[in-house]
Amino acid sequence: QTRYTGIIERYRDRLPVSADTRLISLCEGNTPLIQLQNIPRLIGKDVDIYVKFEGLNPTGSFKDRGMTMAVTKAVEEGSQAIICASTGNTSAAAAAYAVRAGIKAFVLIPEGKIALGKLAQTLMYGAQIIQINGNFDAGMDIVKKISDHAPVTIVNSINPYRIDGQKTAAFEIVDALGDAPDFHCLPVGNAGNITAYWKGYKEYSTDSATHKAVTKKRPVMCGYQAAGAAPFVARAMVDNPETVATAIRIGHPQSWDGAWTAQKQSGGWFESFTDQQILAAQKMLSSYEGIFCEPASATSLAGALHDIANGNIPEGSKIVCTLTGNGIKDPDIAISQCKDAHPVTIDATLDAVKKAILDSM
Ligand code: F0G
Repeated sequence: QTRYTGIIERYRDRLPVSADTRLISLCEGNTPLIQLQNIPRLIGKDVDIYVKFEGLNPTGSFKDRGMTMAVTKAVEEGSQAIICASTGNTSAAAAAYAVRAGIKAFVLIPEGKIALGKLAQTLMYGAQIIQINGNFDAGMDIVKKISDHAPVTIVNSINPYRIDGQKTAAFEIVDALGDAPDFHCLPVGNAGNITAYWKGYKEYSTDSATHKAVTKKRPVMCGYQAAGAAPFVARAMVDNPETVATAIRIGHPQSWDGAWTAQKQSGGWFESFTDQQILAAQKMLSSYEGIFCEPASATSLAGALHDIANGNIPEGSKIVCTLTGNGIKDPDIAISQCKDAHPVTIDATLDAVKKAILDSM
């Protein structure tokens, strides 16, 4: 009998841990790769679309993969406290893994600009929340300087262990499909995740001293951004990023070079989408497939559908879209998207319920 105990245990031989390392884990990873059934039919295209639903990680986003690794190493190195700047998901993950490890977490968040569920999580885990009158990029600037002034380990994705943890999602996809997909579509914010996936796909397709390549194939990497926060499309940093998808409201991505390397080496591209297109994709996933992701996550599907329609992604392709976070993290946006779906209020009687059902059939 083998109980699943997280990504480090599963991919131990490809991660920087030793037999003695105390693993800080919440059994993250091993997330479902769900094949879309209704949307391909709806768009009338012969494409195989899979979504890697990272919203089903312990704190509801892909950040758990990076955080198990970063906190494991922080503890191994004797750190008593971690810190991050965050649009919400990294802070929730940092807070949870710090609790698990028995160390302190400090999180810098842009005041009023993180989704309600993420704030609730971070409060419940008991992290020290520091709200700043500034955006994610401003918080990131401060965090990069703070370790010279206070004994804290940075757990943003500039910490290379974060990237190592997150690369395991690419391993899982190849293990599940038996090969790499043709295209991999991702929302891009701070650009750590596209960097991590590309590292994972490269490691799985390269012979090394310790491992024979699992496959020779690598996907084309498609990085999708929100129109108001699209430095990779502009090819320049953006100073006042704005988007409804607060998770990717980032104008100065830290993994700038990593993302460009992924794009160039894979033959991929960057594209941006309006808030309206992003929300439409989020609604589509919920109402046609029963999959509820947060707005930023739906950017990957918005992009895939756009590039399938214009032929950049040809028919016959196998496509994976990462859905980075869970929809229940952002209830405000979800409810505001469903203003027309008025719940009916009726008397608590059998007759009234019967009438309500028959009236709407
Ligand atoms: N999707 C979600 C749900 C995110 O939370 C993030 C980043 C991204 C996509 C973009 O990933 O930064 O690796 O390109 N969230 C960070 C945070 C910035 O603080 O939670 P990326």
